Amino acid sequence: MTAPHLRKKDLLSILDLTKEEIDLILNVSDMIRKKYREREPFVPLLGKSLAMIFRKSSTRTRVSFEIGMFQLGGGALYLNPNDIQLGRGETIPDTAKVLSRYVDGIMIRTFAHSEAEELAASAAIPIINGLTDDEHPCQILADLLAIKDRKKSLKGLNVAFIGDGNNVANSWLYAAPKADMNIRVASPHGYEPAKHVVEKAKELAQAGRTQVLITNNCEEAVKDADIIYTDVWASMGQEEETEKRKKDFALYQVNEALVKHAKKDHLIMHCLPAHRGEEITAGVIDGPNSIIFDEAECRLHAQKAVLALLMTK
Ligand code: CP
Ligand code: NVA
Repeated sequence: MTAPHLRKKDLLSILDLTKEEIDLILNVSDMIRKKYREREPFVPLLGKSLAMIFRKSSTRTRVSFEIGMFQLGGGALYLNPNDIQLGRGETIPDTAKVLSRYVDGIMIRTFAHSEAEELAASAAIPIINGLTDDEHPCQILADLLAIKDRKKSLKGLNVAFIGDGNNVANSWLYAAPKADMNIRVASPHGYEPAKHVVEKAKELAQAGRTQVLITNNCEEAVKDADIIYTDVWASMGQEEETEKRKKDFALYQVNEALVKHAKKDHLIMHCLPAHRGEEITAGVIDGPNSIIFDEAECRLHAQKAVLALLMTK
């Protein structure tokens, strides 16, 4: 019997995964987590290495990938583009070809999604998207794991995403229909998710008979929600827009009044880092319905599954 694996070489988008592969990742995450907690040795990546290229800051992604590789028997290398020749004009394809001779996988966090795609096209090894301007697939896999831990089944759950139609919202829009969940995104006018993303999400939802709704009304999104999710108003790379966005997003805050519209047993989620008092109040982050720090922990478990599935082929 061959070990389970993913069809594609790379994980750049939630769209790279079938519904069955998402289930597989969640099941493998749970299995790996159990083994780790029971101190049962599990080192499928013994002697293997992951290079991690970060063009943007990170706490969770950097630490969880590095520690995840270590726990699976391998090692990880942090690469700052300013320290390697990439920062001096060496091309992405040449970098991909060279790194493919040394390491067994690359995780990249960058601005243009096309850069991750270009890296994947020239590398002989798996490329994992650790966040681009368009998507954050590893985050949403961890989110699904955290939700499944609490709700047991994902089927039919209602997710309300409040805020910017950004990378995290995009990956959620692709993931919800694949996980049999309904999703409503409430954004200020002009900050809705991109049209092509919404169209693709609606197409997936139609096939799976779930719902996708884009609105400017937070209460409409949160009504009967099982999960309320938010993210920062200004993402990395949008720092100059911070003050304008504070005004434009002022009514799009996850606060004590808004969450009253959700189901009583709703879960509060945020990919972190959070700006307390902006997109979410401190009371809601630290309140009884919040699973935000379990969610952060799930990055480690879900990514260990992704690493094991991609790097043992
Ligand atoms: N959620 C997330 O990706 O966090 P970091 O930016 O700290 O990696
Ligand atoms: N949307 C945020 C997510 C951070 C994890 C950003 O891109 O900065």
